[in-house]
Amino acid sequence: MNELKKNKDFAGPKGPVVLAIMDGIGIGKNPESDFVLQSATPNLDWLREHALYTELRAHGVAVGLPDDGDMGNSEVGHNAIGCGRVFSQGASLVGKAIESGAMFAPESVWDELIRNVINKESTLHFIGLFSDGNVHSNLNHLETMLRKAKEQGVKKARIHALIDGRDVPPTSALEYVERFETFLNEINADGSVDYCVASGGGRMNITMDRYNANWDMVRRGWDTHVKAEGRRFASMKEAIETFRKEKPGILDQDLPAFVIERNGAPVGPIVDGDSVIFFNFRGDRALEITKAFEADELTEFDRGPKPDVLYAGMMQYDGDLGVPEHYLVTPPAIDRTMSEYLSNAGIKQLAISETQKFGHMTYFFNGNNSGKFPTETWVEIPSDSCPFEEAPRMKADEITDAVVRAIESGDYRFIRLNYPNGDMVGHTGDVNAVKVAVEAVDQGIGRIIEALKKTGGILVCSADHGNADDMCELDKKTGKLVLDDEGKFKPKTAHSLNPVPAIIYDPSGEAHASLADVPNPGIANLAATCISLLGFEPPEDYVPSLVKVG
Ligand code: 3PG
Ligand code: CO
Repeated sequence: MNELKKNKDFAGPKGPVVLAIMDGIGIGKNPESDFVLQSATPNLDWLREHALYTELRAHGVAVGLPDDGDMGNSEVGHNAIGCGRVFSQGASLVGKAIESGAMFAPESVWDELIRNVINKESTLHFIGLFSDGNVHSNLNHLETMLRKAKEQGVKKARIHALIDGRDVPPTSALEYVERFETFLNEINADGSVDYCVASGGGRMNITMDRYNANWDMVRRGWDTHVKAEGRRFASMKEAIETFRKEKPGILDQDLPAFVIERNGAPVGPIVDGDSVIFFNFRGDRALEITKAFEADELTEFDRGPKPDVLYAGMMQYDGDLGVPEHYLVTPPAIDRTMSEYLSNAGIKQLAISETQKFGHMTYFFNGNNSGKFPTETWVEIPSDSCPFEEAPRMKADEITDAVVRAIESGDYRFIRLNYPNGDMVGHTGDVNAVKVAVEAVDQGIGRIIEALKKTGGILVCSADHGNADDMCELDKKTGKLVLDDEGKFKPKTAHSLNPVPAIIYDPSGEAHASLADVPNPGIANLAATCISLLGFEPPEDYVPSLVKVG
């Protein structure tokens, strides 16, 4: 049993400790690009002056990513916040497994996938996010796997490319297409193999839905990749250029689906006997398509006849469900999360967000496990299905209503919530909508403070990574805005590399909290912080609390 020791000097506040994650709200470096700064945030401004305030690292090695050039993301961010330690994450583990060759070892899942296609003279398929964003996937991994497949005698490979523009610049698709065409030309040059792109589409249009928000995306992905049904083109480049001409201004992430044909027929439907690798390492947007490939019965959409394939994910995406059955790399073993410790201590906990980030506050927070601990209650507010820039307040008000009710009810000692606005609207690149989004979050925080004042609770307010704080493309050398021919800035849709705020506000002052001297703190320090504010000693191997109490 993982037990928490009580703090002799402080038994916890009268009201609950509330951890508010303001998704995608970091601390910008360039005021012109910082739409958190440009929004009206009277509550956050007040807290910065009157509460305990510090800044936390939320990217790179501080959250288990390969290096400090890697922006943070919600998976690694919520993992770190929830488990109070820094684990090497998917991007690092897959990179190492590929570099060391461990992934390709004899008797490995890789080996099984390869033997399957060689024995059956069938096709090896790769489906995944086609960029080097290193959030869900990395094109380098795909290229190395294809080289290895050739070395091992795989004759036919087909790639189903999900166009990014969300973890990389918004209209950068053709850069990746060009790079990959050069790669394919080289690998195909000696005529011994036939490797090519078979289908694809924008990642926010097909295949990569998450948290059951829109299964229609998965249906469209299935029809495109598996059945090869859809608008046909001679190449991925032709598809992208055509879509852009037809809808000027379209972002890569929203591109329609396409199927590649050769001699009048689709080049790569997925059929009985094939092997399929879903090469994303991150799980949230991989679980639904994985279910479509694995489940015997699927109620979410009509798959038609399910091809009998050997399917593997790059990683295990859900430790509790054991999904997928076959995977190439073992995920980080995130154990002893804060939720488990608090549950063992009998602390009633509420996790709440809207659909788009619901799994972040539950499944990611609990170390990529979908199981619930006994003292946890989870509340999901259904997200809108319209584009988020059209309704940038999203469900911030409804989330706040539910949190305020929960604070006032006295039913919970620990409440954790996520406001998705700064991130989800940040990803659209629409800066005016981003301001509305950030202001909605600030207003929510204001209402939470009032409720905590009444009940004697404590607020811990932070973020998982930045986004809205860096909305424009900046020149890498000068740090100034990159302008187009008309002198307009270029919107940026990806996360930022910026730090995030950490605010600890105890209106009653009963915790006697003061900032501890923690060198180089990161978001992993939030777990011990919440545990100490609840009146317990944090586990010894958690990175330390940001505050001293009592
Ligand atoms: C996404 O999946 O929407 C982006 O790739 C990353 O955003 P998130 O890490 O904030 O979910
Ligand atoms: Co995001």
